[in-house]
Amino acid sequence: MCGIIGILGNEPAAPRLVDALKRLEYRGYDSAGIATIDATGKMDRRRAPGKLINLDEAIAADPLEGDQGIGHTRWATHGSPTVGNAHPHVSGPVAVVHNGIIENFRELRQELEAEGHQFETETDTETIAHLIASNLKKGMSEVEAVKAGVARLHGAFALALLFNGRSDLLIGARKGSPLAIGVGEGEMFLGSDALAVAPFTNRVIYLEEGDVCVLSHESYEIFDRKDKPVNRAVSIVQGAGAAAEKGNYRHFMQKEIFEQPDSCGRTIGAYTNILRQTVELPGEGADAIDWSEIKHLYMIACGTAHYATRVAEYWFEQCAGLPVKTDIASEFRYREPALAKEGGLALFVSQSGETADTLAALRYCKEQGLKTAAVVNVPTSSIAREADLVLPTLAGPEIGVASTKAFTAQLAALAAVAISAGRAREQISRDAEIRLVRALTELPRLMSTTLQLDERIAELSRDMAKASDVIYLGRGVHYPIALEGALKLKEVSYIHAEGYASGELKHGPIALIDEETPVVFVAPFDGLFDKSLSNLQEVAARRGEVILISDAAGVRAAGETPASRIELPDCDPFIAPILYSLPIQLLAYHVAVEKGTDVDQPRNLAKSVTVE
Ligand code: F6R
Repeated sequence: MCGIIGILGNEPAAPRLVDALKRLEYRGYDSAGIATIDATGKMDRRRAPGKLINLDEAIAADPLEGDQGIGHTRWATHGSPTVGNAHPHVSGPVAVVHNGIIENFRELRQELEAEGHQFETETDTETIAHLIASNLKKGMSEVEAVKAGVARLHGAFALALLFNGRSDLLIGARKGSPLAIGVGEGEMFLGSDALAVAPFTNRVIYLEEGDVCVLSHESYEIFDRKDKPVNRAVSIVQGAGAAAEKGNYRHFMQKEIFEQPDSCGRTIGAYTNILRQTVELPGEGADAIDWSEIKHLYMIACGTAHYATRVAEYWFEQCAGLPVKTDIASEFRYREPALAKEGGLALFVSQSGETADTLAALRYCKEQGLKTAAVVNVPTSSIAREADLVLPTLAGPEIGVASTKAFTAQLAALAAVAISAGRAREQISRDAEIRLVRALTELPRLMSTTLQLDERIAELSRDMAKASDVIYLGRGVHYPIALEGALKLKEVSYIHAEGYASGELKHGPIALIDEETPVVFVAPFDGLFDKSLSNLQEVAARRGEVILISDAAGVRAAGETPASRIELPDCDPFIAPILYSLPIQLLAYHVAVEKGTDVDQPRNLAKSVTVE
């Protein structure tokens, strides 16, 4: 899941390539590289391991000429993140940058080595460069060589290719990984997304599966998977170039946590009519789903987005009486799930809208004839473009790799959809709808109050930063919040953490409890609180260090048993999982700061997971 960029421009390419890579760094940051072609047609490249700053320094020390080039920021799949394995990869006159995984690269490599090609890296991508160079040697033109080459690749790829001596040619190809053409004035661009090309042009063409595109400064041609020339729509992309700034915050993650009253407020505003106190779903075709006809709801996603679906599972069951199955996309797509085609709806949740497994699961459900809907934060993404119905989250760009404001916006949108489904299925009364809509509209204010606990949580994080294992427990709708709390902590602080349903404690995890292990209970004073309190006492009896996240009544009821307490404002139980997401995010954030990790770009991760 790397980021790629290609430029046929009219001004020096190197600074523009690096600038575009900065906007693509969310896709991976293990290494980076660029190749350019100068006025004489000569190609050269610079590459560096680690963050983009290292590439910047390498170029400053040894500048690259030329107005055309390709660039890459890498999330390592095959081969460690060394300079040698960094893209672009070169064979003869061909330079290539690649996002994806070539599954048959070993066979191809053997074949090419037998032909005499010498490989320098451990990557799957280098095979592509040699394969196309081999085709050129056989007398094919560049375009023929690329088309014949990609026809032999199994797996997923988005490619940008540059050819030594050809300063007016850039070729792209996509299968399974996203790629877009940016159409400029006498300039042409290729990028993994609209964000990559945003400062250069707002006219973007999203390539489709199997497309190959051939660009010159003045024109472009697109060939579909059957090699037929095709026209693809040019979209005007608004606002994608807006630079994300940290403002007065130390990290994007911190800023995004504090933005949640706004981002949730915007999302709730888009899904509710405050005057009428009703839910009204946004977007074209929102009426396309007749909830009274739906018999089975499948919700499929990955990571944090999956936890949003796990919370929503409770909402859809309770408000709409709808049988729900949630699944992790990477499991779902290979399981040959038994799907109810009559009355089945598949709902996908994704911040980026590009997660490879989620996209593949969406395509699978469409092939099976299911209706599909997607809750997405990036409206131009592949998942948004391919789902039958888009349910947007209005979180705004999320830069911190660990998801925070996108998660609560997903929850807010899903809560509204569950109310809407409940009304359509006559499972909740008009009075109940009014109560739930009111609860949702109260949320931004309660979030602002909760964020005032920041300092208190920062204090608690000092001790937690010394732990090597942390356990998160929750019941009912707060069980997925416990899972999310553990994921957030692992991601940004590198402390081992696990989330469990509180009731599961005595079935195994209790063996982990000792005085060294903090146990975070997510437990508002709701109908399940007494049960949680028993579990809390079981932990305290074994000298576990309990941190209770609850409200005034819960804190009172727990008395002195918990070693530490975080007291949230009272709220309607319906919105509690959204509100209780904030303290667990703050806790993870402050522990990470305490430990001095790279909070916004934690090791080994990437924001958009475009490989399976
Ligand atoms: C965790 C996180 C990931 C993503 C997951 C799905 O903080 O951000 O677990 O939630 O990779 O990504 P999207 O939502 O883009 O499909």
